[in-house]
This record gives sequence, C-alpha cells and structure tokens, in this order.
Amino acid sequence: MSTRAFVAFVVAAAVAFAALVARDRSVDEAALQAEARGLIKDYSTALLGVLKSTMESSGPVEAIAFCNREAPAIAETASQQSGWTVARTSLKPRNPHAAPDEFERRVMTEFVAQIAGGTPTASLRHAEIVEQNGERVFRYIQAIPTAELCLTCHGSALKPEVAAKIRALYPADQATGFAPGQMRGAFTLSRKL
Ligand code: HEC
Repeated sequence: MSTRAFVAFVVAAAVAFAALVARDRSVDEAALQAEARGLIKDYSTALLGVLKSTMESSGPVEAIAFCNREAPAIAETASQQSGWTVARTSLKPRNPHAAPDEFERRVMTEFVAQIAGGTPTASLRHAEIVEQNGERVFRYIQAIPTAELCLTCHGSALKPEVAAKIRALYPADQATGFAPGQMRGAFTLSRKL
C-alpha cells in the first residue's frame, strides 16, 4: 500500500468510528468534546506517522515537499468523512491558509498567556458554541506543543537546504524560531449544530 493510500485508510477508519459514536446529533457538549478529541488523536497520529516515515526514508527536504502536497489533503479527507471541519492553525503560520480567524486568534492568545503562567502547552484546549452567520457552531481548539522532532523545520537553526526549500514553497513563512514546549499552533475543529 502506498503511504498516501495508508493515510487515507487510517483517516477513513478513524472517521467512520467517530461518526458511529456520534450518531446522536442533539447538543451534548461533553460528547462533542470527546468526538473532537478522538478526531484530533487520529488526525495527529496520521500526520505524525507520515512525517516521521518520510523524514526517515527521504530526509527533511522531501518531507517538506510531502507536507506541502499532502497535509492539506489529509485535513480535507478527515473533514469530508466526519462532517466536521478539521484543520490546523497558528499565530505564526507557515501555510497562509492556516492563518487564524478572530475566534482562533483570541483563544490562542489566551493559551500563550496561560503557557507564560506555567500551564503545560499540551494540556490546553477550549470548547465553545458560537454564533456564525446566523448558525450555531460548536468549535474546539487544542494547542500543539513544539517537540524536538519539529525543530528541523520549525526551530531557530535550520539547515540551509531546509531553509531554502521552505522559502521556495512558503515565501511568507512565519513558522520558525520555535523552542521545545512552545505552542507551534493548534488543531481547530468545528461543526454546525
Ligand atoms: C520536514 C519538515 C517539518 C517538520 C519536521 C515539522 N513540520 Fe510542521 N509544517 C511543515 C510544513 C511544510 C508545513 C506547511 C504544510 C501545509 O502547507 O499545510 C507545516 C505546517 C505545520 C502546522 C500548520 C500551521 C502552519 O503553520 O501552516 C503546524 C501546526 C505544524 N506544522 C506543527 C508541527 C509540529 C508540532 C511538528 C513536530 C511534531 C512539525 N510541525 C514538524 C514542515 C514540518
């Protein structure tokens, strides 16, 4: 099975399971939060799996090209199959499409303040029902900590070939200079109620 087919399979299986668990559509916030957490777990496992295997088999420059081609598609697949919108965002985005909306910016700014106060990044999440264009929407945001592995492409001492590949694909990149434990970004999920 190709890596791409494998990722599609993992995401599809996870999403089918989540959909089964969440058949009841009445507003049960605890259930929605649990469903969001489950989707994030599967989505992040799929992303991390392909990131690690591509880094090991082909090195970071090819892994950047892979993320560029596949990361948006993985989020798209997870969204289509779950009925949620599944994405990543950041206060310092690499892909300009990951720039936060007002809600995401507010929540992530609060997260940054909490991290500065000593709260571990990995523990930060926020759920809220908001009004968007006259519709009620459940939104869920979970902080993504920077790990050692991430520094190859998001740290402050990038190899020249890595920096060059990032510049070529993302001329407006803001996503370098991170240290372990800092918030690299957040998973952002939403679902109309
Ligand atoms: C091989 C290089 C590489 C590594 C290693 C890497 N990333 Fe990325 N990261 C990228 C690229 C390229 C993108 C842009 C993907 C796209 O176009 O959607 C990205 C995007 C992101 C985004 C989406 C928001 C944005 O800025 O566009 C987050 C969040 C993120 N990375 C977190 C991490 C975390 C956490 C780790 C470590 C576990 C990590 N990355 C490791 C290359 C990398």
